[in-house]
Amino acid sequence: AITGYRETERGLRGGAGRALLLRVTPAFPPRCPPRPSAHVLDLLPGGRVGPHVDSVKFCGCTIAGVSLLSPSVLRLRSLQDPQDWLELLLEPGSLYVLRGAARYEFTHEILPDEESFFGGLRVPRGRRVALIFRNDPSGENPPKTPPRT
Ligand code: OGA
Ligand code: MN
Repeated sequence: AITGYRETERGLRGGAGRALLLRVTPAFPPRCPPRPSAHVLDLLPGGRVGPHVDSVKFCGCTIAGVSLLSPSVLRLRSLQDPQDWLELLLEPGSLYVLRGAARYEFTHEILPDEESFFGGLRVPRGRRVALIFRNDPSGENPPKTPPRT
């Protein structure tokens, strides 16, 4: 679902990493803190993150993302009713948090340069680097998933 990118995983055990982790940890439930590493996604200006819901096998109830370098537009769209959508303008240095319905019941995507509008406002996309924080799946079924028989 992602095009025009490279990615890596970075530990957060150094000074800057620990400070960052301290800042994002309050966005997570106390019993399910973020993993002590960040997923780093480096998107080219024309790169996009297509609409998806993060796998419940690899990611728990909360996703937090810090956007760097270029502004970008994050779109959330309801799985149940695709007419129901909203967009967030992600300024460099901003943090977004996906949990609850935004985590499980809406897809999320980062618009590529040619589609990068926020309302009527054109948001030219340059290179964008995101630091993404996730927690582990809890082992319980996420909301809306029927129990296995
Ligand atoms: C992802 C993702 C969003 C972002 O990598 O799963 O949704 O902010 N990234 O780059
Ligand atoms: Mn995602």
